[in-house]
Amino acid sequence: MATIGRRTGAVGTALVLALTIGGSALAGIGIDRSSDEQALAPTRAPASATIEQKVDKLLSQMTTQEKLQQVQLLSDGQITDADAKAGVGSVFSLVDPEQINHFQHIAVEQSRLHIPILFAYDTIHGYRTIFPVPLGAASSFDPEVAQADAAVGARESATEGLKQVYSPMVDVSHEPRWGRIVEGAGEDPYLGSVMAAARVKGAQGTDYSAPDKVVSSVKHYVAYGEPEGGRDYNTTDMSESRLRNFYLPPFKAAIDAGADTVMCSFNAINGVPGCANKYTETDILKKEWRFDGFVESDYTAVAELRACPPVEPDSGPCGHGVAADGPEAGAAALMAGTDSEMVSTNIRDYGQQLLADHQITMSRLDDAVRRILRVKFRAGLFDHPYVDVTTASDPASYGRPEDLAKSRWAASRSMVLLKNDGQPLPLDPSKSTALIGPLGATVDEMLGPWSGRGTDPLAPKFVTLFDGLKAASSAPVTYTAACNLAHNFDPPNNANPPITPDEEVCAGPGDDGTTIQDAVTAADNADQVVLALGESAFMSGEANSRSQLDLPGHQEELLDAVAATGKPVVVVLFNGHPLDLTAVQDKAAAILEAWFPGTEGGNAVADVLYGKVDPGGKLPVSMPRGVGTVPYYYNHEPTGRPCDATFKWNSRYRDQSTCQPLYPFGYGLSYTSFDVSNLKLSRSSVGRNGTVTVTMDVKNTGERAGDDVVQMYIHDPVASISQPVRRLRGFQRVSLESGESTTVTFTLDKSDFGFYDNRGKFVVEPGTIEVYGGDSSAAAMERSFTVTR
Ligand code: BGC
Repeated sequence: MATIGRRTGAVGTALVLALTIGGSALAGIGIDRSSDEQALAPTRAPASATIEQKVDKLLSQMTTQEKLQQVQLLSDGQITDADAKAGVGSVFSLVDPEQINHFQHIAVEQSRLHIPILFAYDTIHGYRTIFPVPLGAASSFDPEVAQADAAVGARESATEGLKQVYSPMVDVSHEPRWGRIVEGAGEDPYLGSVMAAARVKGAQGTDYSAPDKVVSSVKHYVAYGEPEGGRDYNTTDMSESRLRNFYLPPFKAAIDAGADTVMCSFNAINGVPGCANKYTETDILKKEWRFDGFVESDYTAVAELRACPPVEPDSGPCGHGVAADGPEAGAAALMAGTDSEMVSTNIRDYGQQLLADHQITMSRLDDAVRRILRVKFRAGLFDHPYVDVTTASDPASYGRPEDLAKSRWAASRSMVLLKNDGQPLPLDPSKSTALIGPLGATVDEMLGPWSGRGTDPLAPKFVTLFDGLKAASSAPVTYTAACNLAHNFDPPNNANPPITPDEEVCAGPGDDGTTIQDAVTAADNADQVVLALGESAFMSGEANSRSQLDLPGHQEELLDAVAATGKPVVVVLFNGHPLDLTAVQDKAAAILEAWFPGTEGGNAVADVLYGKVDPGGKLPVSMPRGVGTVPYYYNHEPTGRPCDATFKWNSRYRDQSTCQPLYPFGYGLSYTSFDVSNLKLSRSSVGRNGTVTVTMDVKNTGERAGDDVVQMYIHDPVASISQPVRRLRGFQRVSLESGESTTVTFTLDKSDFGFYDNRGKFVVEPGTIEVYGGDSSAAAMERSFTVTR
């Protein structure tokens, strides 16, 4: 258990909160059911009797057909007046407030039972005020960043008439090739759990019927982050212990934080697709965790349960082959625990026939409808079904100054300084700066692949890096694109290949007509050089996996040419995949990982480059050395032949001279230096129900104020099944003045030192637990304690 809080920050104390994670908020993750029933008690608020009565009353009035409409979730392109009148349950991606009201008026005034529609949207890291991508926010190691993002996104979404967000995406992933790694919190279940809980609290508050709150849908349930080969939607095969120790915890944390909806995933685990998986949907989520909200399928995921006909022309989505046809798919999904079907319409279309054939039961259908109605009542939709179109259409409702300030603050806290040899950073604002590179003045790339409504006319103006540098510098700043970027938006017809293949990045002149030679001249003429490199936004995100992880196209040639001037080159990276930076590391003097920083990105990067904000972020993923070494993750299990690059008969690559990634999980530099010392445990032995307090001192040993993230890892060296070599179980970001020090305290209990075995049972085994302290996953300080019987 760790108490996490921000000491100081640019936005001020209004945002300060304490999130308790571990023995309390994450209690259900680590429970030995056989020995401690009390600890199983759900942390969710009990259902309200008043709401339950209303749900029961309404349900008792519904016809079968009305129930089948209620479990249907349609897209903006599908919904018709007839659907609204028939009592359709939910609609997503409809963002025109007039249209929202249009359909809502029909549902509320013309449908027989006047049940309002739930309108949903993918507000992933902002609606119109865009925050850094979630992988960036996770780099802040600050739950307040995630909470602020979710709260601003919820307010703007609710203003538009939306009452559900398909967020947070909490898929732990060890796959840098997977495009959707950008949407989550990286490779660690503990960090992912802290961020998941913070996002739910930000979006829902304590009562999501509030006008500025929405209900969160946690996705993609579950283990979607581990597709074989890193290809989106692909197969996943995993042990029970892996599932429970790595992939379920962030979902459990989100549910415990109050998330009332969940999206089941496209992929199959051990051959069972997420939306037909009774074990995960019903046994774990609804029974074990006592989740009483509803589960919606992902987009056409129910139809995809069907086998594809061998020769027939296009029959729509299909593939998993766990159902022969649409009716079987609908039955499999509903009976497994899927309560609402997105886009495909099998449950609605075939429900009557399935009931008659006893393929589905009325009690399961009733349960699904009851869950949907419960969420609608909790959301206050029956009392406030309509959106105020005037406020929704007012530009002043979006990008409010205080929200832009939060977005800027969040982005600057999310950056990770990977290298700063010879201290070219921070830049001197009184010296001239040459900004070079295809990402230096791009408009929408800064927003990342899930940019919500961040580019529409009501969205605030976004800030390019060029704009940000000019505003921060008192000396001249020049911009030279030097080469082109692939504006890799998906083609309208989803055709392949994409509009611009990755190889064509930086293969020709930039948007401003400049070339690499112009860049060399600009570098020669300036005191300081900043190179903006990386990926275009649509190289990551859904269906955008990559088989290469280096800088796309010819960007390294640009780096080589500019580095050859002899000027120390500062590389700022904008990207969604964790990249293989081996070549960049060799040539750049400094590297700042900025991810996709959002609406205020240019200002936030300038804040860090010119030293107004100390880069205190840490990596939430390991950065690989070569794509052939992935998946690599710090919390891997040991082997009988641990990696030793100097010796043959062990778990190594013959062509790698080290066993380490280029940059490890939890790594990040600062403009100052820190000393983390004095790791102490409160006791040397503990009973299974006891706690151990862990303390460490951290001192700012440098000349400037700055941020560090103190991290605590544990390892169980002898267990009935091999335990990860390290597991993060506590962190705290601290801001310290030069010379200042503080003591950070964590508490460990059985939810930390126990683990799930392959029977799905939580066990706390007697023996030694090693504790490591420091400011990265390579933390060197070590102590240990013994868990007694
Ligand atoms: C994605 C989900 C998203 C849904 C609705 C799907 O393709 O996998 O993450 O919420 O579309 O937009």
